[in-house]
Amino acid sequence: MSQDRPVTTADYWEKRYQDQDTPWDIGYASPPLIHYLEKLKERGQRILLPGAGRAYEAVWLHENGFPNVFVCDWAPSAFERLKDKAPSFPESQMLVSDFFGLEGRFDLILEQTFFSALPPEKRPAYAKKVQSLLQPHGWLVGLLFAHTFDHQGPPYGGTAAGYEALFRPYFEIVTLRVADDSIAPRAGRELFIEMRALPS
Ligand SMILES: C[S@@+](CC[C@H](N)C(=O)[O-])C[C@H]1O[C@@H](n2cnc3c(N)ncnc32)[C@H](O)[C@@H]1O
Repeated sequence: MSQDRPVTTADYWEKRYQDQDTPWDIGYASPPLIHYLEKLKERGQRILLPGAGRAYEAVWLHENGFPNVFVCDWAPSAFERLKDKAPSFPESQMLVSDFFGLEGRFDLILEQTFFSALPPEKRPAYAKKVQSLLQPHGWLVGLLFAHTFDHQGPPYGGTAAGYEALFRPYFEIVTLRVADDSIAPRAGRELFIEMRALPS
C-alpha cells in the first residue's frame, strides 16, 4: 500500500503510478496552462515542469516546437506516457530525480499540483528552490488550489493570502487570481499565478 510509505519518498509516488491510483491526473493538458503557453513567442526558452507526472503539457510543448523543455519527477513510471506519446522527447530532458536536488537555470517553471503534493513544511524550501532555478526575472506560472482541504493531504491546499506571504520574499507577484478557464471539477477552486523571480 502506498499509504504505508511516507509521502516524502519517491517510493510512495512510484507505487501510486504502478497502482494507477492517480486521481490528480486530469488525463490531458490543463486548459489554463495551455492558454498561457499558446501566447508564448520565444520557442527557445528553457522550461521546467517539476513533479511533472504524466507530463501532458510537455507533450504539447514538444509538439508545438519548444525544444528546451525539461520534466522532473522522482517516480520513474510517471514518464512512461511521455515516452509513448512523444518518442522524440529527449531522454536527457527527463529528470528522474528529487526536485530539491536539481541544478541549472530556467526561464519558466510550470506548476500544477506539484506544490500541493508537498507537505506544507516544505513550502518555504519550494519557494526558495524555484527562485534559485530561475533566471533573474524568470517566471513561475501555474495553478495552486484556492482552498484548504478538510482531510489530511496530499493534496494540501492553501489560501491566496498564505501564498502571497510565502512567495513575496522571492518573487514579484504579478497575477494571483481565480482561474477563469479551469476544467469543470476545479472551476473556482484553483488560482492562476504568474510570479517573476527576484534576482537570487
Ligand atoms: C500530485 S502529482 C502531480 C503530477 C502532475 N503535475 C499532474 O498535475 O498530473 C505530484 C507529482 O510530484 C512528484 N514528486 C513529489 N515530490 C517530488 C520531489 N521531491 N521530486 C520530484 N518529484 C516529486 C510525484 O512523483 C508526482 O508525480
